[in-house]
Amino acid sequence: MSAPSSSLVFVNAAQVVTCAGPPRARRGAEMRDAGERTDVGVAVDGNRIGAVAPVGPLREQFPKAQEIDCRGGVLTPGLVDSHTHALFGRPRFEEQELRASGLDYMEIARRGGGIHASVRDLRAQSEDALVAAARTRLMRLAAFGTTTVEVKSGYGLTLEDELKSLRAIARVARELPLRIVATFLGAHEIPLEHRVSAARRAEYLDLVVKEMIPAVARGELARFADVFCETGVYTVEESRTILEAARRAGLLLKLHADELTSSGGAELAASIGATSADHLAAISEAGIAALSRASTVATLLPGTMLFLGKTTRAPARALIDAGVPVALATDFNPGTSPTPNLPLVLSLGVSQLRLSAAESVVAATVNGAAALGIAERTGQLAPGYSADLTLFDVRDVRELPYWYGDNRCTATWVRGKPCHSS
Ligand code: NIG
Ligand code: FE
Repeated sequence: MSAPSSSLVFVNAAQVVTCAGPPRARRGAEMRDAGERTDVGVAVDGNRIGAVAPVGPLREQFPKAQEIDCRGGVLTPGLVDSHTHALFGRPRFEEQELRASGLDYMEIARRGGGIHASVRDLRAQSEDALVAAARTRLMRLAAFGTTTVEVKSGYGLTLEDELKSLRAIARVARELPLRIVATFLGAHEIPLEHRVSAARRAEYLDLVVKEMIPAVARGELARFADVFCETGVYTVEESRTILEAARRAGLLLKLHADELTSSGGAELAASIGATSADHLAAISEAGIAALSRASTVATLLPGTMLFLGKTTRAPARALIDAGVPVALATDFNPGTSPTPNLPLVLSLGVSQLRLSAAESVVAATVNGAAALGIAERTGQLAPGYSADLTLFDVRDVRELPYWYGDNRCTATWVRGKPCHSS
């Protein structure tokens, strides 16, 4: 017999930020409306949102519900971090000083550091060790208000090590209260042993297309496939070959596009129907135009540019003006963005990318969910949606990006169950 479904009524919120609306990404002026309500509560019925309404009627409708006192805080949809590389071994703190001394991120990679260093390390780690590390790190993300998180493989780069990574992600997803979406990123780098000749490089592409993707699809180990399309890493043509194979295998598509140089990644993401194109700090005018004609979400990762010490910024305003839906995410990873703090990324969204506070919240809730192809399930506080909620100790939603670097998250719930509480 299944346990009786429990209900909750959230009362005394200064604001309920619903993000309510259609179950799809918001674009243009729609992004300015985060659906802030005062004088309402939220009822959770089992694992779903039951109602958003004045508290009196909610109490009548859900007389047996347990009351959650929001103490004058702000209740939002659980935050969605739609781009992370949270499965890794050791941190790469030594590279931060190397960059400060003048060595560029890509130069560190050319010398065998960067992603290659994390690959050497992950290959030596057991699945159990990776699970333990990811568990702790993902609960750090949860502590800042994240309830849904995408996690990529991509530090294995052999069939066995990529499968080990995805199995570890699946185990963490079963163990933790967070909602986790897995992405196969076997094309995160060309492994050093395949960089020695053109033939060896072609061999690795073949391995990704003919062995890794089919194995990932057979094992249902990932929802998405992604490629690091960048000058010196995967070309647009190689990326297209990999993504087409992934699509044939039934995976949805993402792309690391135009992060450091403008190489036509956004155009590829748009033309191939990728669910999201990510980074885009170096996107071209043609890339913006291509995305404006597609349904691809532009996932911007300003924490990465900040941490790398770069002054280029993704043209968020131009993207929004062109009608491209924008999401914000941490890019949490050991090399370019070791922050678990998604509200900090909202701060950067406002101060660096010139979003409004409401736009930044929409970007990390409903649009993040759309970037994961789950906008009909999470990202808004509306009847029928998964009961994924975050409570912040602030009085006004504009304080979320304001207290930058601070942690104002009091508690989160996922599928109606407590996830994090401080
Ligand atoms: O999104 N750009 C490629 N991948 C990551 C960095 C990974 C790493 O340096 O370990 C990113 O920035
Ligand atoms: Fe990334």
